Amino acid sequence: MLPQMESLNRSLGTDIRLWPQDIRGSQAWASALAGAGVLSQQEGEALVEGLEAVAHRLSAGGFDDAPDEDVHTLVERLLGEEVGELAGKLHTGRSRNDQVATDFRLWGMEVTSAIDEALRELGSALVALAERGIDLIVPGHTHLQQAQPLRAAQWALSHLWPILRDRNRFQGASERAGEGLPLGSGALAGCPFPIDREWLRETLGFRSVSENSLDSVADRDWALEMAFAGALLGIHLSRLGEDLVLLSSQEFGVLRLPEGFCTGSSLMPQKRNPDVAELVRGKTGRLVGNLTGLLTLLKGLPSGYNRDLQEDKELLFDTADTLKLVLPPLTGALADAEFTLEGEGQDMDAGLLATDLADYLVRKGVPFRESHGLVGRVVRRAEDLGLSLSSLPLDAFREIHPSFEADVKEVFSFEASVEARAAPGGTARGAVEAQLASARELLTS
Ligand code: ARG
Repeated sequence: MLPQMESLNRSLGTDIRLWPQDIRGSQAWASALAGAGVLSQQEGEALVEGLEAVAHRLSAGGFDDAPDEDVHTLVERLLGEEVGELAGKLHTGRSRNDQVATDFRLWGMEVTSAIDEALRELGSALVALAERGIDLIVPGHTHLQQAQPLRAAQWALSHLWPILRDRNRFQGASERAGEGLPLGSGALAGCPFPIDREWLRETLGFRSVSENSLDSVADRDWALEMAFAGALLGIHLSRLGEDLVLLSSQEFGVLRLPEGFCTGSSLMPQKRNPDVAELVRGKTGRLVGNLTGLLTLLKGLPSGYNRDLQEDKELLFDTADTLKLVLPPLTGALADAEFTLEGEGQDMDAGLLATDLADYLVRKGVPFRESHGLVGRVVRRAEDLGLSLSSLPLDAFREIHPSFEADVKEVFSFEASVEARAAPGGTARGAVEAQLASARELLTS
């Protein structure tokens, strides 16, 4: 092979990390060949032991720059150094096509548990942050405009539920990785030896054996699902990151991020930049890119294995690596973040209670559509008089509608406003505590 082609052809730098899966799959295959009578029991055992010795050598590292094309040829060469010519019998009835599809799925199943654990820790940090914010009432926003008061806990938990859904999505992708063991599909048409695929399935921890060899060597649906789970998680993390940037700004002043996760400016001595949140937000681009890359890679491929598929691993590996990189610092920053009341949280505008004022009229029998318009007039009147809504005299209210009575002053309590929202899912203390209880329960598993 010409040198220019060799560098394009080689994937060892990327797929070297699949060596543990390649060893496991190969040991199972050697035993299956012996079980099928293709190899003697002794040969089967010698291969399994030889592969064990290869694993030992590989675990010491230093093979990234080996001259081999990919991890599969590397393992086979090293096996030859351990068991001699017998190594040449391992590839009987097997192709690198069903081999790599199997290795990649085994990796996918394993990597999910690391991501799941990191997500569980992030979730626990959000729960703890919510617990610290249960007494604090802050302005909630729609369209980034102050809208209604919220318990800070409600905001923190609003970022937890997407993460819990992400855990489920990763779980689902991992289950799909374990459905349809490719090993035993050969290059495309199946295996000509009486291999016990059911035994292979059980040994390698798959849930089922693939039904169609041609589909099986090319099916990367599970990888796409995992790339999607990663991209969507990235979207969620970027929104959380954006909120952290905003809430920790002087303008919002609702949250302080721990110093160890921020940096100063090389120029402006007063700066405390929310780098952790910005870097997490910034990493989302590559998570989305890996999903689009994988979708594009698969589009329009003809049936069966195509060499294009060699590109699949780099993309999904990057998704996993990126997540493992960003989740711990984000968790650490949230674990030590503190709610503060320096900016907008400090003196909240009574305008946040305009909806409560409309609800007040509703309780007096005014239809909501009408009360909404009436309160709009109250707000304008207060603006014209240069007064806050809460200091507007009762007469001014009553000029707009006679249903406003002396008790209207009771509406001007942020505590009363949040406590009114007691239906499940709302921001009243009881509803938030119920939410916290189910979140804690979900995070125990
Ligand atoms: N390195 C290849 C990959 O990652 C292994 C399969 C090669 N198969 C082949 N027919 N050349 O897809």
